[in-house]
Amino acid sequence: MRAVQFTSFGGPEVLRIADVDVPAPGPDEILVRVAGAGVNQLDTKIRAGAMPQGRPAAFPLGTGVDAAGAVTAVGPGVTGVAVGDVVFGTGRATMAEQAILTAWATVPRGVDPVEAGGWGVATETAGRLLTELGLREGTLLVSGASGGVGSAVVQFAVARGLTVIGTASAPRHEYLAGLGAIPLAYGAGLADRVAEVAPHGVDGAFDLSGAGVIPELVGLVTHPTDVISIADFTAPGHGARVSTGATRTMRPEDGFAEAAALPGFALRVERRYALVDIADAHRQAAGGHTVGKLVVTP
Ligand SMILES: NC(=O)c1ccc[n+]([C@@H]2O[C@H](COP(=O)([O-])OP(=O)(O)OC[C@H]3O[C@@H](n4cnc5c(N)ncnc54)[C@H](OP(=O)(O)O)[C@@H]3O)[C@@H](O)[C@H]2O)c1
Repeated sequence: MRAVQFTSFGGPEVLRIADVDVPAPGPDEILVRVAGAGVNQLDTKIRAGAMPQGRPAAFPLGTGVDAAGAVTAVGPGVTGVAVGDVVFGTGRATMAEQAILTAWATVPRGVDPVEAGGWGVATETAGRLLTELGLREGTLLVSGASGGVGSAVVQFAVARGLTVIGTASAPRHEYLAGLGAIPLAYGAGLADRVAEVAPHGVDGAFDLSGAGVIPELVGLVTHPTDVISIADFTAPGHGARVSTGATRTMRPEDGFAEAAALPGFALRVERRYALVDIADAHRQAAGGHTVGKLVVTP
């Protein structure tokens, strides 16, 4: 089968299409025929060598974490899913015709599996962030709300009954309003703009873009720990929290289930890419201005 691989860390140009054996699912894993595979900034950071795993890389490496498609094989110990079921989730080397998933949920009826191929990381992260914040009512500020994680966070938070203020550049404001958020511009003067729409302040804030807004967000909440970042590791220096997959207390399936159970949940696919255009997809994702998701269709 065809799969994207790279044999050295570097820019998007290191990505190649290789002919590889179809992987066999191990215990608690499944194999899917990939209908869609969402591109994450994480993929571009791993490819660039910016995410050291603490041991030498075993090249060649595959790329991609998100995928959705029909199950073609199930590994030992797997229950509740059968060959032919259409699922989405997260796994490894998903930019390929077939890929292993290690966590999954059923693609809801009526949802295009290509779109669901971009749901994995975004919904897992959104569910984790909201659980870690633990806000039951009030106003949530989401900095960088129109991308993959932000689009999922906004929909989950609105469904949980929170008032959501989301920042993005002006061309994305209509999109954000459609998700149920109050759109605001990011950049200088954010605190004043927030004060206009939330005169009583905000009860929690997420930094999803890592654009250096932690001190400003901390100034808007009651306790610095009411601010959580997924992209700015200086946050603890300001009393705020960082959430990473590595320290998560939730199962990925919890975020998947929240998306699957939410009527009308959707992640806009800004652009679909063929497998051969994976380098372009990485360039676009790394830019950090995606509306919803970018999805590769092998
Ligand atoms: N720690 C974790 O567990 C975890 C999990 C998932 C993702 N991440 C990381 O989280 C980040 C976001 O992921 P994503 O997939 O949502 O990214 P994305 O799809 O590229 O979205 C980025 C968002 O940031 C906004 N943005 C860009 N420049 C900004 C600025 N200067 N100020 C405020 N907002 C700005 C964008 O809005 P415009 O397009 O309007 O500029 C967009 O809404 C990435 O760094 C990713 O690696 C971490």
